[in-house]
Amino acid sequence: MPDDLVQLLRWYADMGVDIALDAMPHDRTREPVVPLPGPVRENAEPVKDEPLRSRATPVPPAHAAPAEAVQQDAREAAASARTLAELRDHLLAFEGCGLKATATQLVFGSGEAGAEVMFVGEAPGADEDRQGAPFVGRAGQLLDKMLASIGLERGKVYIANVVPWRPPGNRTPTPIETAACLPFTRRQIELVAPKILVCLGAPSAQTLLNSKEAITRLRGRWFDYAAGDTAIRALAMLHPAYLLRRPADKRLAWRDLRLLAKEIARLRAGAENST
Ligand code: URA
Repeated sequence: MPDDLVQLLRWYADMGVDIALDAMPHDRTREPVVPLPGPVRENAEPVKDEPLRSRATPVPPAHAAPAEAVQQDAREAAASARTLAELRDHLLAFEGCGLKATATQLVFGSGEAGAEVMFVGEAPGADEDRQGAPFVGRAGQLLDKMLASIGLERGKVYIANVVPWRPPGNRTPTPIETAACLPFTRRQIELVAPKILVCLGAPSAQTLLNSKEAITRLRGRWFDYAAGDTAIRALAMLHPAYLLRRPADKRLAWRDLRLLAKEIARLRAGAENST
């Protein structure tokens, strides 16, 4: 390959351009500008965590939702799944999220139904997209260390994302993409039925806890997450990818991990006393 082409590809990779969306280039600067419908997103200020993800992608207004047919399809498919394996099959057949077209493969959750703690992150990155498993890259390695620090291990917890396909260039999934996948995410939580749900990072915490607050305000607080008729204890934490960029904030993560460990101990003690 000629040297200048190699250099161009390197430059693209450095700029975060790591996927071809089409076989032919498009000059977007010559296309007419189509205004987004409706008012600007209320919470349009940049989310404070997840600096690894690109902020350049235009974000649709908050009220934007997937087409009703897509939502209906997702709700019906998710509700009909009786096991995690069935849910995975339904996701494989689901065509309602555009990310499927650009991702290499579906990255479904890892772990067993009945896991005591379930962690939900944002979306797969490049390593996860290649390997088909969540949190296997650098952020995943840090997550493993975080788990180990309170006596947990990957094989004993359940790990998933709010969106199971990698967004191109690692950008943040749009509200429409997240909403399209939400019935599957919720059903996954119901089927795993953890005692504790941990939301890693803003997109996960804001989506699952139905909040517009910044992750810096949500983290370190307990919520009740409604999974059908059951209330699951839910904790928001900073995302490991954020901690890789802001190691100084690891002290906050350590505080949250201690909260998590305390709650696990409390629930285990309660379970022992009732037997
Ligand atoms: N970041 C996420 O949110 N999820 C992954 O699976 C990997 C990195």
